[in-house]
Amino acid sequence: MMKDSPTLKQDNLLVLDALQGLNKGRAPIWLMRQAGRYMPAYQAVKRGKELVELFRNKDSIVEITMQPIDILGVDAAIVFSDILIILDAFGIDYTFQEKVGPLISKPFDLKQVDSFNVEDKLSFLFEAMKQLSSDLNVPLLGFAGAPFTVASYLIEGGSSRDFKKVKKWIYSDPESFYHLLDRLSDAIALFLDKQIEAGASAVQLFDSWANILSHHDFHKYSLGFVKKILEKRIYKDVPLIYFCRGAGHFSKEIAALGVSCISVDWTTNLKMLRRGLKEVSFQGNLDPALFYGSIKNLQAEASRILTEMKGDGGFIFNLGHGIPPDAPFEKVKFLVEVVKQWQE
Ligand code: CP3
Repeated sequence: MMKDSPTLKQDNLLVLDALQGLNKGRAPIWLMRQAGRYMPAYQAVKRGKELVELFRNKDSIVEITMQPIDILGVDAAIVFSDILIILDAFGIDYTFQEKVGPLISKPFDLKQVDSFNVEDKLSFLFEAMKQLSSDLNVPLLGFAGAPFTVASYLIEGGSSRDFKKVKKWIYSDPESFYHLLDRLSDAIALFLDKQIEAGASAVQLFDSWANILSHHDFHKYSLGFVKKILEKRIYKDVPLIYFCRGAGHFSKEIAALGVSCISVDWTTNLKMLRRGLKEVSFQGNLDPALFYGSIKNLQAEASRILTEMKGDGGFIFNLGHGIPPDAPFEKVKFLVEVVKQWQE
């Protein structure tokens, strides 16, 4: 089944044009993790509250999603949420601990993914997105964690260095790991469709940990289930961006799945990548660690990427990964100005 995407009200469509390879204006910019701890306005809202409280409250989702639009002037909003929020649909509990990250306290049991309810359990998010898409003058991006990355958090119980539990599971019982990914894919495909119905004009899948897999397993456990999501979703004409570390090395295979845009890290030479791959848009490429260096180098690197991709109708300026929580706010603001004002 395929449905037409809902009509748009936004007037700045640079990001959507670029996702279709049709941008004739300047390169648009948005930044992964543009709403977050590096921003004083976010800290003011966060103070004294648990992160999950903010993620599950319609008003704080709306307020925090708008901050980077109002304060930085980026060309797209990404809904303030987390890749773990999908666990709410399965009734799996988790917390976020300062400086540690996500924590799932109970050991994972496959029975926990037997059933899910996306529509009711995540209604706060869809309500927030409905409001945002009517208030915003830039496109609203929805997102989800890709099945493999969400499964990794479930199995490890949080972030991990070596992913020992995940690998132990894959190498001892691949069938049940497949079953887990399959269940997550069904929920994630529906989750993305519901975000689109609520007003998202494009969606991004974050497969942050897929790069720990062997080449063979990456195809099987990561891309195989991204393919399933693409086939299963209803709004097939709504652009989907795929992010994983090392995406540049798999760009041909990722493009072949039919994604609209590949979000690349900083290890990729975009100009070379574009030479061999015309049918997809690209996003990303700036090393987020540049925020720790001098303003001069930040500007020079941004400028280098913009020169490389000059005139490319399918390019969106972004970072190679999220803004670090300790990035100096003023430098992030400066970067957005550099990209928006850029002329060779
Ligand atoms: O981009 C945005 O502004 C939207 C918000 C967003 C958050 N998380 C909010 C958040 C997005 C897109 C995410 C995605 C996410 N979450 C990913 C995929 C992207 C990536 O970074 O690889 C992953 C792996 C997570 C899981 C997660 N959430 C971790 C590991 C952490 C701890 C990070 C830390 O440094 O403390 C979180 C917490 C989290 N997610 C915060 C926010 C605003 C709080 C910390 C912060 O402000 O950066």
